[in-house]
Amino acid sequence: MHTQLFPGIDWVGFVDWNIRDFHSYNTERGATYNSYLIRDEKTVLIDAVKKVAADTLLANVRELTDLEKVDYIVCNHAEQDHAGAMGQVVAMMPNAEVVCTAKCKEILSGYTDTTGWKFKIVANGETLSIGENTLTFIHTPMVHWPDSMFTYVAEKKLLFSMDGFGQHVASSQRFDDEMPLDVLMEEAKIYYANIVYPYGAQVARVLEAAAGLEIAMIAPSHGLIWRKNIPTILEAYKRWSAKKSENKVVIFYDTMWESTEIMAKAIYEGVMSVPGVVCEMHHVRKSTLTELSTSAMDARCCAMGSATLNTLPTPTAAAVMTYMQGLRFPIRYGLSFGSFGWGKGAVEEISAWFEKMQWTEVAPGVKAKWRPNAEVLQKCREAGKLLAEKALED
Ligand code: FEO
Repeated sequence: MHTQLFPGIDWVGFVDWNIRDFHSYNTERGATYNSYLIRDEKTVLIDAVKKVAADTLLANVRELTDLEKVDYIVCNHAEQDHAGAMGQVVAMMPNAEVVCTAKCKEILSGYTDTTGWKFKIVANGETLSIGENTLTFIHTPMVHWPDSMFTYVAEKKLLFSMDGFGQHVASSQRFDDEMPLDVLMEEAKIYYANIVYPYGAQVARVLEAAAGLEIAMIAPSHGLIWRKNIPTILEAYKRWSAKKSENKVVIFYDTMWESTEIMAKAIYEGVMSVPGVVCEMHHVRKSTLTELSTSAMDARCCAMGSATLNTLPTPTAAAVMTYMQGLRFPIRYGLSFGSFGWGKGAVEEISAWFEKMQWTEVAPGVKAKWRPNAEVLQKCREAGKLLAEKALED
């Protein structure tokens, strides 16, 4: 199966309809691993797929050319969702050189026995003429691994952007104008929040480099190919990479016997008493880490609550805290809250986490013994109002 981007340039990748867990990222709409084949004077495969999809990729390429005719395999990124099949692909394309960064070679060799592979290490900005077309390699370190690069085909104004601008969507459609834009942008945002967000400064540098290129098509390694809505996705990346928060409060909580949930709802009432603030509230065991992180990505304030379980936050609340710690969202203010019975601990742990995150607590942590009484609920409302006021500070 293949899809033409331009005469002589085709998508030859794999649609992963059933994947729902991509190293803890919940891929509710599945995923694709996009490979592309360029048939010019030289034949070039751009990226591979995950290991289990190697046969599909090879069959797709065979529909268009003999495997022996492939001269180059460009490996833009060594992560195993793309490079897992490289062992089989290189073995079946014996005349191909593997084109990649020095770091990519190192990582490929860490995962796979690359003995006997012919490597062509390319510098940033290096070009490779393949006939009518010329490939230019643009290093994009830490977007989102140290090995990463983009490959640009100036003659077609075509950018192979590897993970950049990707979305996890399994579909029979290949192009952005064949799917509702709101679905695509929602998935692009989820992808950015969960995969790319910590590397905003590096993304900004890549966008600066891309600004000097004429781009008519962006072909990422995941999801739909951008050919109509390029300004929309570039503008979104510019906005997201600036790491700017909005007038938004998120309330995340875990509850055992509803006491912490009652407190969360009182905090929500306090937040909503201030006009102009957006608030999203999640019971953390009823939302995925993927949804929670996407919700928190542009928040300015976070109320985190948990019942105390064995002197600690619940395991799910702790997992949310760990995940958010890695993603480094631009939240500035926090509020800890939660219930306890005979042994305290959850609220103290959450406050300690705020300190680590360098978020300022707007009020002392609010605690309830067994059920929150009227006084505790009033404290929750007041603290929620304080959070909302902070959310309005730009
Ligand atoms: Fe899609 Fe970083 O791999």
